[in-house]
Amino acid sequence: MEGKQVTHLASNVHMAATSSLLLSSLLALLLLQPSPSTANEGNVLLTGDTLPTNGELSNSKAVFVIQNDCNLVLYNNGKGFASKTYEAGVNCTLSLNDRGQLLIKSSNGTLVWFTPRGPIGKYAAVLRPDGQVGIFGPLLWSTPEVWAMKRVVDPVKFSTAPSDKNLLFSSQLLNEGEKLQTRDYNFMVGKDCELALAKATGNSLLWGSRTKLKGDHCYVRLNYRGQLAVLNDFNNKLWVSGPPKQEGVHVLVLQINGAAAIYGPERWTTAAL
Ligand SMILES: *[C@@H]1O[C@H](CO)[C@@H](O)[C@H](O)[C@H]1NC(C)=O
Ligand SMILES: *[C@@H]1O[C@H](CO)[C@@H](O)[C@H](O)[C@H]1NC(C)=O
Repeated sequence: MEGKQVTHLASNVHMAATSSLLLSSLLALLLLQPSPSTANEGNVLLTGDTLPTNGELSNSKAVFVIQNDCNLVLYNNGKGFASKTYEAGVNCTLSLNDRGQLLIKSSNGTLVWFTPRGPIGKYAAVLRPDGQVGIFGPLLWSTPEVWAMKRVVDPVKFSTAPSDKNLLFSSQLLNEGEKLQTRDYNFMVGKDCELALAKATGNSLLWGSRTKLKGDHCYVRLNYRGQLAVLNDFNNKLWVSGPPKQEGVHVLVLQINGAAAIYGPERWTTAAL
């Protein structure tokens, strides 16, 4: 919808005299600025987020949608999942609460379906690269959020989404020069050994591991205890995000709000059902 407005406005202004050309580009720039109103990572639902009726998570393998018949369905080439809540409510929405539960609610507020409860905290429901959905959490570590999330996720997807480049799972590495990416941010370990979170444009540094020049061919690994570490070529740990936690599969999400955050372990998944 925003895209349409921009085009409409741009074509109107372009028809006007050349004196307004500067104004036109200024307006276009302003309108094209990333705005919180399009807060949809495409493959992640965080605690506090709500998918509206017909809203979905999607990637190249699968679509996870809260349908207008109130059924929550994972379409994944025969390896799917359904909540079997067909017509159990009207205009149902899907949200993730601070107990790590996915909740289907009918528009009259009735709770229709929910997943098991975990300890209080922030969670992430992730459409994994293999096309299954997993609930990870609670939050173990995060860089500061750059802006506050909007609570209702816009069902309109980005043209560039979806990709899995915003996720790093336990046992996965980011080698020198490799990066996680979301719409506006990059998270990468450079040739200088610094793990840095930066704006995708302008390269302004938002957070760094302070391991600059402390090693050669440095890399980053997330382990099964929820620890993210920067290691050098001799596999020596130069920086670690925090103490070891419960063993299990964890995930680091580079969020649309500019935070890199570790959630885990995985507590529920469509794959197990
Ligand atoms: C809400 O809607 C559901 C399904 O339509 C219905 O079974 C339930 O009785 C309603 N609850 C209230 C409080 O209106
Ligand atoms: C459900 O959504 C439709 C379409 O937005 C709307 O026309 C209808 O009134 C809604 N029904 C309820 C019970 O909220």
